Amino acid sequence: MKLADKIIHSLYIKKGFKYYPEDKYLIENILKLSKKECPKILDVGCGSGHYSFLFDKYGAKVTAFDIDKFLIEKASEKKKEHNSNAVFLIADGRFPERRFSEKFDIIFMSGFSLFSTNLNKEIMEKYLSLLDSEGKLVFAHTTNLNGLVRETGPKNYRVEDVKKFFESSDCKIEKIYFYDRHVIIKILHYFVLNEFSTKMHILISKMTKLPCSLIFIVKFDSKL
Ligand SMILES: C[S@@+](CC[C@H](N)C(=O)[O-])C[C@H]1O[C@@H](n2cnc3c(N)ncnc32)[C@H](O)[C@@H]1O
Repeated sequence: MKLADKIIHSLYIKKGFKYYPEDKYLIENILKLSKKECPKILDVGCGSGHYSFLFDKYGAKVTAFDIDKFLIEKASEKKKEHNSNAVFLIADGRFPERRFSEKFDIIFMSGFSLFSTNLNKEIMEKYLSLLDSEGKLVFAHTTNLNGLVRETGPKNYRVEDVKKFFESSDCKIEKIYFYDRHVIIKILHYFVLNEFSTKMHILISKMTKLPCSLIFIVKFDSKL
């Protein structure tokens, strides 16, 4: 890891990641993106496996990795508690081609800090090429929708920046959503990935100045 990445990484670990029971709705809705009964998921930069365990719980076949040995050990320890079959690996996300040759139905990147300061097209295209023909990549990141920088996010992207990035890569953007757990009343958490929820999140986030995350759903589309 580069020094800058190391500093960002240790800040993340120090702050700790925040998880909420409502995250299950996000994962359930992401799984609906695949028509398969047991979709194959790659959880990139999985941390201690919070989302990996949820994917596994809702019937997916999960491979998850992180560069941080400590976090992967933590995730592996929690496997029993979650009665989970998720596979956790230590790997450097800059080189997915070294570890993976199979295709995935969903590649999930939530706050993957490799892309926190720099959206790297070459690396993203390696992931896009790991998608099955009907596969989707789900990219979730903090946004500066309300002009504020989220405390735990070194960079809050503008939706236009991420859009431009994906438009210049080998893929097609299928959907763009806004989502966060705490900006909207609990009953709306169920409707995490839809137009109405997105509109509500934008409105509430702008009114309250609370942070909000961007979720891009993209499909591999080789322009070659
Ligand atoms: C903000 S955390 C997100 C964790 C988890 N995805 C989540 O949403 O809770 C970012 C994760 O990316 C991992 N990471 C950073 N650079 C990486 C790299 N080159 N390869 C693999 N993982 C990396 C970090 O170790 C950290 O666990």
